[in-house]
Amino acid sequence: MTPEDDVVDMSNLDDFTDFDPDDSDEAEAEAGADAGTDDGAETGTADGEGVATADEESDDAAFESVGVTPQGTDLGIGVVSATEGLRISEDGDETELRAYVTVANRSAVRIGTYLLVSYPDGERLFCRITALEYAQEFRADDATEIHARRAMRQEGIDEQDFKFVATLEPVAVLYEDDGDLKRRMTDRVPKPETPVREATDTGEIKTGLKIPDEGVFLGHLAVGGEKVRTAAEPPTIDYRLNDDYTDGDPLVFRHTLVAGGTGSGKTHTAKNVLRQYLADDRTYPVEDGARDVPPCLVMFDPQDEYAQLHDDNPDLDDEFRRRLDMEDVAYGGIDDTVAFVPKVAGASYASSDHRAEQVEFTVPFSMVYDNPWLIAGSSLNGNQYNALKRLLNRFRRQHGDDGTYQQFTSFMDDPALKEELDETGRVHEATFDAVKRRALGFGGVFDQDARPITDQIHEFVRSGGVSVVPTYHINDSRSTTTVVLALASLLVDQKLSNDPRYPRIEETPVILGLDEAHNFLAQADSVQGEQVIGKFTEAAKQGRKERLGLFLVTQDPQDIAEPVFKQINSTVVLNLGDEDAISAVNIPTNLEQKVPYMEKGQMVVYSPDNSDPVELVGLSKCLTNHE
Ligand SMILES: Nc1ncnc2c1ncn2[C@@H]1O[C@H](COP(=O)(O)OP(=O)(O)OP(=O)(O)O)[C@@H](O)[C@H]1O
Ligand SMILES: [Mg+2]
Repeated sequence: MTPEDDVVDMSNLDDFTDFDPDDSDEAEAEAGADAGTDDGAETGTADGEGVATADEESDDAAFESVGVTPQGTDLGIGVVSATEGLRISEDGDETELRAYVTVANRSAVRIGTYLLVSYPDGERLFCRITALEYAQEFRADDATEIHARRAMRQEGIDEQDFKFVATLEPVAVLYEDDGDLKRRMTDRVPKPETPVREATDTGEIKTGLKIPDEGVFLGHLAVGGEKVRTAAEPPTIDYRLNDDYTDGDPLVFRHTLVAGGTGSGKTHTAKNVLRQYLADDRTYPVEDGARDVPPCLVMFDPQDEYAQLHDDNPDLDDEFRRRLDMEDVAYGGIDDTVAFVPKVAGASYASSDHRAEQVEFTVPFSMVYDNPWLIAGSSLNGNQYNALKRLLNRFRRQHGDDGTYQQFTSFMDDPALKEELDETGRVHEATFDAVKRRALGFGGVFDQDARPITDQIHEFVRSGGVSVVPTYHINDSRSTTTVVLALASLLVDQKLSNDPRYPRIEETPVILGLDEAHNFLAQADSVQGEQVIGKFTEAAKQGRKERLGLFLVTQDPQDIAEPVFKQINSTVVLNLGDEDAISAVNIPTNLEQKVPYMEKGQMVVYSPDNSDPVELVGLSKCLTNHE
């Protein structure tokens, strides 16, 4: 709306409505002028912008009095209003904080926008808009023919006929302490008619939301899908996940979940975050702080996408890279990325869309000694499982640590053994048969023609390296599960063990990435399910101590077993349509509502020990190759 329009509107009003515009103008002029003076004085003490602020504010007041829209920069969007109550309460439900939004600012404000309200001594109340409403300025019925026709003719309303009120939720009080900006609980109420301005200073916003300055880059702070803009360069606010020991433990070892519907950008996002963990200078202390070493990422990859972490994204142009450098975001292919390809009968791996080295391995049957459930499938009951353990023990005594799957098959085929166990009352005949039926379907998985993974631990777990385990080429889901859980359990067992067989695993900080995690960590009423969930829950609990971080990616967060889920501290939620999935991720209601509407790149991050819950926009490009 131009100033001219406004003037015309005002004269129109006289013809149609029953109020005296002069009265209202005076009232507004007073409010504006007061506010202007206040703000000038305060900002003067707070950040030294006093003179300019006062000038601009009084300009504002002058404009308001003649009812036209001010041009140029406007430092406030309105003022705190006490008309319907002004109260800050210990109990958030009783808090009442509203701002009158001036005409010129109405179309720009959005729910979620971060605002600041100054106190006279320079402290500031940091808040966010939770509701916006029009209320009638004057008692009038706008559901009338004359109003309707007038409105239709003008293609718009007379903004001045209405109050536009924003409801604010106080987030924190910002205060200066020895030159540092800090935040504390909201414990004081702002004065009525104090100007309310949009938060545009990186320091104020980061402090207000408790976002760490340092850490792993996840994306840029946003409201309603739009990045929050500041006056600084770069004009965006980087969101980072705490990754050192200054304030608790690095969050990577307190586990991360990336949840999103099909095609929402899970893998794109996961790659961009994981790339940060492999940044050149990222290390974690090991051996009680004696050494600092980079982590190893072991990524289980059902869609054959992560070996591309090895390669540069050809679409990262100079300008994009310059911005990444400026924001200290790591990018580019990770040279030390190796695809550890499971050799499984009947499956051949033929990937051409990455240039990472490929190394074949097989799962030796001896890994089953530590984890008998690997061959229990999902249908053995407790009794049968005990029988399986007994049989494995006996087999191990006979064949030693190198016993093969083929030997185990012959062992189970021996009628004399079955008879003996039955007669001595150790394993009932029927139980023996049930175990045999279950345990003998793994011929294609164990002891194939490749080096056992247990002989390649030094290659598999490398500080600063990425080991990707692609499983897309395995057509049989039971074999896939066995391979993935065998390797994941090996890592977890060694981390948890007091007497590890492979100290290499124990000594290296490990990020264990699992895409399609719901396929492996679902709650299940079976021996296998119980064992897996128990193990991962324990691993997650010990993660900080053992430097083991779980990084789970899923489209079905509701399927991840509760005990594991509870150990996850940082949740990144991309677009999700499924209601069960949305409620499973357990994020605050105000952000939950946005989830079904989010576009690619938009995300909600809920990491209570890192910051207040926030909405972000992730990078539009993948930092490594992602085809
Ligand atoms: N922030 C973004 N900006 C632009 N494009 C994106 C963004 N995130 C993802 N994409 C693109 O959208 C497509 C799907 O992304 P991605 O493969 O990460 O989805 P996904 O959730 O892993 O899908 P799936 O369910 O198939 O595993 C890719 O082409 C990816 O590059
Ligand atoms: Mg994916």
